[in-house]
Amino acid sequence: MGESLEKVRQHYDDVADIYDNRYNRNRGRFYYGHITSQVMDCIPASGHILDLGCGTGLFLKAYERYGGSGVGLDLSRAMVQRAQSRCVSSDFTMGNAEVLPFRDGCFDAVTSLLAFSYVRRPEQMLSEACRVLRPGGVIAICTLGKNLFTSGLPAIYSMAEAMKVRKIGMGSFGERYYDDREMKDLLEDAGFAGVQVRRCSFAHLNLADPFFGIARKIEPFVEEKVPRLAYNLLAQGVKQE
Ligand SMILES: C[S@@+](CC[C@H](N)C(=O)[O-])C[C@H]1O[C@@H](n2cnc3c(N)ncnc32)[C@H](O)[C@@H]1O
Repeated sequence: MGESLEKVRQHYDDVADIYDNRYNRNRGRFYYGHITSQVMDCIPASGHILDLGCGTGLFLKAYERYGGSGVGLDLSRAMVQRAQSRCVSSDFTMGNAEVLPFRDGCFDAVTSLLAFSYVRRPEQMLSEACRVLRPGGVIAICTLGKNLFTSGLPAIYSMAEAMKVRKIGMGSFGERYYDDREMKDLLEDAGFAGVQVRRCSFAHLNLADPFFGIARKIEPFVEEKVPRLAYNLLAQGVKQE
């Protein structure tokens, strides 16, 4: 494992015990519920899926409620352990999303939430994702997109690291943010068809009230009419039959 990936792994091992807290409270629950439902809409309701960078298993747990099951893969052992204790019909394994220890064509869908920006070789991850999908299987990725908001993040993350802030994602990990065109090209080059990329999320969980309340109200308008202000990017595609 390269040095920078080792740093990501170490960080998530260190914050695994507090990771779920950010999504337990009102704002976090709304934010995570929003992206979960967007990804859920892209995949079959009760299939067998692979969740890359699965963290503590929040998405797979939600998928199980719809009658589905899956496998979660993550770099961090501590995150995987939490996922294991949360989910009853899914399996978990430690690993790098760029090298998948699964046979060809064994999943109905591949998902990844809030992890793609850490991936060092996105082409490699997407080509592996395509390999393990059955023909007609779908991929759905939700990740921070490139915009005004994310352009300031590397500086904030470096500062937080220098100040030794113990907060999820607060560190300089060389994250990469993509624009819609780059994401579309990446998926198409990996062999996906019918690729669609759109923006979602405007109400950020770190916004204080009343700003969060306002952002939440206008989120559907922003996503539809001024998508460049929405900071997450949702990319989906289908493995050709
Ligand atoms: C912000 S967390 C998101 C976790 C989970 N998907 C969620 O929605 O709560 C990012 C996760 O991606 C994992 N990760 C980062 N790079 C990875 C890689 N190359 N392969 C596998 N997991 C990775 C981290 O260990 C961490 O658990």
